[in-house]
Amino acid sequence: SLSCDLYAAGGTPCVAAHSTTRALYGAYSGSLYQVRRSSDNATRDIGVLSAGGYADAAAQDTFCAGTTCLISVIYDQSGRGNHLTQAPPGGFSGPAPGGYDNLAVATAAPIMVGGHKAYGVYVAPGTGYRDNSTNGIARGDQPEGMYAVFDGTHYNGGCCFDYGNAETNSRDNGNGTMEAIYFGNNKVWGYGAGNGPWIMADLENGLFSGVNRGYNAGDPSISHRFLTAIVKGEPNHWAIRGGNAQSGGLATFYNGPRPNVAGYNPMKKEGAIILGIGGDNSIGARGTFYEGVMTSGYPSDATENAVQASIVAAGYAPSGGGVPGGTLTPGSAISLRATTPGYTDRSIRHQNDQVITSVVGSSSSSLDKNDATWVVRAGLASSSCVSFESRNYPGDYLRHQNYQLYRQRNDGSSLFAADATFCAQGGRSGQGTSFASYNFPDRFLRHYNNVVYIASNGGSHAFDSTSSWAADVSWTVGQPWA
Ligand code: AHR
Repeated sequence: SLSCDLYAAGGTPCVAAHSTTRALYGAYSGSLYQVRRSSDNATRDIGVLSAGGYADAAAQDTFCAGTTCLISVIYDQSGRGNHLTQAPPGGFSGPAPGGYDNLAVATAAPIMVGGHKAYGVYVAPGTGYRDNSTNGIARGDQPEGMYAVFDGTHYNGGCCFDYGNAETNSRDNGNGTMEAIYFGNNKVWGYGAGNGPWIMADLENGLFSGVNRGYNAGDPSISHRFLTAIVKGEPNHWAIRGGNAQSGGLATFYNGPRPNVAGYNPMKKEGAIILGIGGDNSIGARGTFYEGVMTSGYPSDATENAVQASIVAAGYAPSGGGVPGGTLTPGSAISLRATTPGYTDRSIRHQNDQVITSVVGSSSSSLDKNDATWVVRAGLASSSCVSFESRNYPGDYLRHQNYQLYRQRNDGSSLFAADATFCAQGGRSGQGTSFASYNFPDRFLRHYNNVVYIASNGGSHAFDSTSSWAADVSWTVGQPWA
């Protein structure tokens, strides 16, 4: 049985079920999500390989070959039509036209699930999905449960990476007008043990880690690569639970009465659904979503434990960077060689602190070879991505600044970490590997006039040129030159 079969058996059926990776009902054979490609704005629904099965990621790859796709709809599998689409402006406006939030880049969170390639929903700040007109979602003080599977290594302290129940007008309507799962290390309203990240409940004007505003010792820092996060609530009672989506069971981090702060008992839930944003369309957060559901009724711990076992059985695993042979292993030294016809003898190297491509071969000087060799490190900003440390300048990394690449010393700042982190995915040309910028996920490492940039597929800079883009952003991860 899959997640929503188990919730139904427990008497608390799913009223929303969202996933870009797999079906959440054994009988589900519909579409999981829709992608839209930039080349012609055409859309394509992505379904499952079989009823109750995994996403047909190959259909996305074929449709999006050589162009950039965004996830335009995340379909509701429950039959209630609670689909998630581009979030509209509210208390805050998003960066897209009309004040809408951005859509997620469809290839930015590649994984394996059950031995199949699939893509998650990569939320960079500014990205958000919402449904303000739902069917069957809890209102007022009605009971509900929610779980989501997130990338526990991809988070920040911005407000607010949420999945769950929010205001139907995208505004802050006061304490108790939301009930959503939050994940990240924001400490403005609440926090738990350690340095975070934490699973908390976003109840509006407050991320709660327990009964108190602020600190609650029972809520641990938790950062599994694949994280199961749970929040559920019923009259004057709610809970936070969590676990490793790849193994083991769930632990309960809070189980008790509503916060000892006015306004949260009774709750005033409005029944919209948000993903990746705060209730008032705050857009400061980042994270990655793979699947999640909302139920009618307060699920029992036993039901959730069965759901957790089924999530583990689904077999989430890292993609291995999308690299044939898995050569993007932290600690290994590599070269990054162009695949563009006519340029395949060129590798990414640093020279005078700038980053360019040069012709490098076995007879090259030792300086050239060292300059063109990089040591793979776990991503400075997220361990599900990678960073590249210079072979001959240890402590210096490949980083972008004003969209151009440089070799620079790691100054320990979060900006440097983000600028030096790249998320590997299948080569956009269909060959090799492409590297999306962690903080600009629609921009990829690209050579242009033999200089290396992070480039989008079309845009205002010369180096964003669509001509030869797919080949220029596709690299061979090869043996190190030194
Ligand atoms: O509760 C925390 C946040 O506060 C909500 O997500 C947002 O609506 C408000 O800014």
